[in-house]
Amino acid sequence: MVKGKRKMEMMLLLILQIVVAATAANVTYDHRALVIDGKRKILISGSIHYPRSTPEMWPDLIQKSKDGGLDVIETYVFWSGHEPEKNKYNFEGRYDLVKFVKLAAKAGLYVHLRIGPYVCAEWNYGGFPVWLHFVPGIKFRTDNEPFKAEMQRFTTKIVDLMKQEKLYASQGGPIILSQIENEYGNIASAYGAAGKSYIKWSASMALSLDTGVPWNMCQQADAPEPMINTCNGFYCDQFTPNSNNKPKMWTENWSGWFLGFGDPSPYRPVEDLAFAVARFYQRGGTFQNYYMYHGGSNFDRTSGGPLISTSYDYDAPIDEYGLLRQPKWGHLRDLHKAIKLCEDSLIATDPTITSLGSNLEAAVYKTSGSCAAFLANVGTKSDATVVFNGQSYVLPAWSVSILPDCKNVAFNTAKKNAATESTTFAPQSLKPDGGSSAELGSQWSYIKEPIGISKTDAFLKPGLLEQINTTADKSDYLWYSLRMDIKGDETFLDEGSKAVLHIESIGQVVYAFINGKLAGSGHDKQKISLVIPINLVPGKNTIDLLSVTVGLANYGPFFDLVGAGITGPVTLKSAKSGSSIDLATQQWTYQVGLKGEDTGLATGDSSEWVSKSPLPTKQPLIWYKTTFNAPSGSEPVAIDFTGTGKGIAWVNGQSIGRYWPTSIAANNGCTDSCDYRGSYTAKKCVKNCGKPSQTLYHVPRSWLNPSGNTLVLLEEMGGDPTQISFATKQTGSSLCLTVSQSHPPPVDTWTSDSKISNKHRTRPVLSLKCPVSTHVITSIKFASFGTPKGTCGSFTYGHCSSSRSLSLVQKACIGLRSCNVEVSTRVFGEPCRGVVKSLAVEASCS
Ligand code: GAL
Repeated sequence: MVKGKRKMEMMLLLILQIVVAATAANVTYDHRALVIDGKRKILISGSIHYPRSTPEMWPDLIQKSKDGGLDVIETYVFWSGHEPEKNKYNFEGRYDLVKFVKLAAKAGLYVHLRIGPYVCAEWNYGGFPVWLHFVPGIKFRTDNEPFKAEMQRFTTKIVDLMKQEKLYASQGGPIILSQIENEYGNIASAYGAAGKSYIKWSASMALSLDTGVPWNMCQQADAPEPMINTCNGFYCDQFTPNSNNKPKMWTENWSGWFLGFGDPSPYRPVEDLAFAVARFYQRGGTFQNYYMYHGGSNFDRTSGGPLISTSYDYDAPIDEYGLLRQPKWGHLRDLHKAIKLCEDSLIATDPTITSLGSNLEAAVYKTSGSCAAFLANVGTKSDATVVFNGQSYVLPAWSVSILPDCKNVAFNTAKKNAATESTTFAPQSLKPDGGSSAELGSQWSYIKEPIGISKTDAFLKPGLLEQINTTADKSDYLWYSLRMDIKGDETFLDEGSKAVLHIESIGQVVYAFINGKLAGSGHDKQKISLVIPINLVPGKNTIDLLSVTVGLANYGPFFDLVGAGITGPVTLKSAKSGSSIDLATQQWTYQVGLKGEDTGLATGDSSEWVSKSPLPTKQPLIWYKTTFNAPSGSEPVAIDFTGTGKGIAWVNGQSIGRYWPTSIAANNGCTDSCDYRGSYTAKKCVKNCGKPSQTLYHVPRSWLNPSGNTLVLLEEMGGDPTQISFATKQTGSSLCLTVSQSHPPPVDTWTSDSKISNKHRTRPVLSLKCPVSTHVITSIKFASFGTPKGTCGSFTYGHCSSSRSLSLVQKACIGLRSCNVEVSTRVFGEPCRGVVKSLAVEASCS
């Protein structure tokens, strides 16, 4: 009997081992690539940071990533979110890392887990919880025992959690790679010898955790063996790893750039992004990650600083709201297909690179059975015709053509076959008489936040305190308050000539109240200098200074010590006599945070809300509350904060982040059409100059109920909340595309068997598809085969246009969700000989 039971157990164990063996993957690397179960892989990866969206959004974001041709989802791990207080962990909701990784696995994608735990990421304090700063004797990111102990503890915690859930590829899970530290090489020199030993320690600590998959360190040329040093940047084709046994990997290809309050909106043309990616695979790269593929939002007070905006859209292929950004997403999807068509050749060998002329380069991956080639024109001005293998190819400036069979072009980075799809914010009427279901309760109520000290935990201290050391970032707000007795000192009281208050702060916002009235304010990333003429009265006077942080620094050597707040000097000067008093050294009263924060006004539950009319508006420091019904439908929702000043907003108690529509982008540096040709930089292509940096703020659908939602604002500056409006973000109804006779045919006409007959892919095709599955093409607003000009929304006829253009496109497309029109004289006739012609179409879907 016992024997039988044992036999059963043994059999079960064997079955279990077989199952594990069948699913566990062995991940290693060699000179060419990551090697999964003995096979080198060409991998395309994209960053999605799980707390920048909601668990309800994750499946769709991951599916859209997969459809876009990604193999890997990359994310950082956000320590400050997971351990907001020491030893109190949070892995729930937006911080449910396990769920996120499992969802990626479910979609059949791999995961690159960048544990850091320093992550930068435009995240508050670079991802470090602020309590870490108060650990006795700690020095961040260097060879310091208290720091190393904490870093090891958290890293171990994450690795153990992943192991427990069997999420490493070695256990059958999706994680094929982990990262330790982040871009330390960029700042290491500031830490001297201790920095060098810290990096060695980081590597061996990580290795000791025994994940069973490789580790990488980004921007770390001296990464110790066997850590893979990887590249971050707008281009990484020139990068080489620090050992010939390591593959060439790119962990951050910036798909755009982040937005700051006060800045215009950066964008990166997809032709340049695709060029950078193609150049990387052309020159031997085998793993590339878009930072970001979906950027999302900095909810709550998670944005880094100083002055990082709440939106973290990043001009990524999937926009902040989770909608496809077209043609960016589509053009990259085509690029990924073209690269994958070359996979067998790419993994087999190193490229043979030859020059085809000045700025012209061919890379050939050739084995006995297969051949793939990349042809590049890295010149920024002129298109070129090159001869390759006896055939001639036209290469637009700053472009790469991909030839999966060394003969036919499957893709050129400058020639888009993906249509532009408009997205629009549709305003939702919120007035009860607007007839919409999205009614903002006509009633606003309010609570005035006291000016100056109002909490019992206020305390006295001589001199000016640095803000982060004082608040521990429990709140954005710190009151510096002073009571002054003016007697006999008429020089500060003279009528007609005011006293002048001079305040200096290292950021980011200061409001100065004199005797309860706002007298002046200012903001800056690093240095605020206020000179405010003020009126004092005989006897008691109060000077209440409210200092506000807008995201703690996240980058640079010793960023953790940058500090914030009113550091002085603070002086009071008599305009008349010139005599001055140094206030900095006086006895100040401090209050961390606002009263309403402590009493929980954010939820809207308090009984203190006042609904008397008229509603006080344009007053500083006031809490507002209203209720509203959700806009109908399932489209993403945004609140337009135009009309308000600056503050924090909550929907049903969930913080949607800091709003600041009065922060205006500088009025220079914008270009209407940014030339994608030539090296991209973060400032090269920006829009929205002279306008608010951010007026629209995402409210995730899952935070809304159909009706009875509570919106609470803490308004600092003064504004009119009744001007707030709601909008839904919709995939628009218009589709635009221009395809020329010199475009490669759609990459989808290729199959992975590149030996397939070439007949099917000799002619370019213009393909349109309504993004909404229930829509069909209802009208063709513009169609011209010839030399059309302009861009989407402003197409015009050139000197030549086939008279059949409109009727042919209408016939092929109207009434259908998708249609294909061959771009050739065979179809349209010959409107003008000797010119390369294009077909431009603008269509409407509904
Ligand atoms: C990199 C950093 C990322 C992010 C990026 C800019 O230097 O590694 O975390 O901050 O810059 O978006």
